[in-house]
Amino acid sequence: MPVQQTNGRVILTHPKGASAEILLYGATVISWKSGSKANSTPVERLFVSSKAALDGSKPVRGGIPVVFPNFGAPTHPEHAKLSQHGFARSAVWNFDSVVMDNEAGVSVRLTLTPTPDIMVKYLRPFHLAYVVTLAEHQLSTDLHVKNTSQTTSTPPDALEFQALLHTYIRAPANDVLIFPLQGKKYYDKTEPTEQARNQPKEETRAGVDVKAFTDSVYEDVAGKYEVTWPGGSIEVKAKNFKDVVVWNPSAEAGSKLADMEDGGWERFVCVEPGYVRGFARVNPGETWVGQQVLTVLHEERAQGQ
Ligand code: BG6
Repeated sequence: MPVQQTNGRVILTHPKGASAEILLYGATVISWKSGSKANSTPVERLFVSSKAALDGSKPVRGGIPVVFPNFGAPTHPEHAKLSQHGFARSAVWNFDSVVMDNEAGVSVRLTLTPTPDIMVKYLRPFHLAYVVTLAEHQLSTDLHVKNTSQTTSTPPDALEFQALLHTYIRAPANDVLIFPLQGKKYYDKTEPTEQARNQPKEETRAGVDVKAFTDSVYEDVAGKYEVTWPGGSIEVKAKNFKDVVVWNPSAEAGSKLADMEDGGWERFVCVEPGYVRGFARVNPGETWVGQQVLTVLHEERAQGQ
């Protein structure tokens, strides 16, 4: 069965061996196993902490949590009652449909509309759809944000939001480099003062590493990144997500996260395409789509090679 639904999870299986698992809780992709062109054996490509809660009690520490409608602490007045990274990652989504099921890809659609819990904190009408597509060496995740407001006013009753896919790529953090961010403007959230955090820096490194605590928000970037390490490489391609966050807490901040496994920060890098500097705007009746495509580019060598 290419698409199975069990216990609040959706499992996708591609005829060539790849698989993906999505929790309805947060529409969180918690596993993506894929081979490469050189080696067809499927390997887990995402990191999920062994201490992550997968029972819907808190957002998942790993996989691909969906951040909406605010990134970080809320800064928009309409988001004032929301917690860090918004409600999408901690709401239970609906399984809507199987979109595609053939050799090209296996694809499902999950949806989220305002629930009573959400409406206590957030008054805007919206419809979210999340389409997850598994191909032989690729995982695509598309977030569709529709403004369902019926209000006809001038200026239009725009929905203003931030959105981001918080992708935890399984990789040896000490050996990872991310290209091409050189010359790009970024905001360094590890700076101790607000003034310093709001002061843009310019990336000078040809390849960005995450050997030290890293929490950098790159603004207006190219939308195509390569995450490489000796023997492995994953491409992250983004559409309409104009920014990208690179995050690794290292031992400094990682050891303070209750749901982070010991040394977990050595086993991933978060490369997070998003619209997080400023707000995306979508008018009533219209839909904004943000897309991420992850592709396995090169094979990891077998252990010891
Ligand atoms: C990143 C933010 O996207 O997510 C960091 O830039 C934050 O500042 C990190 O610490 C993890 O957030 P959370 O809420 O999942 O612990």
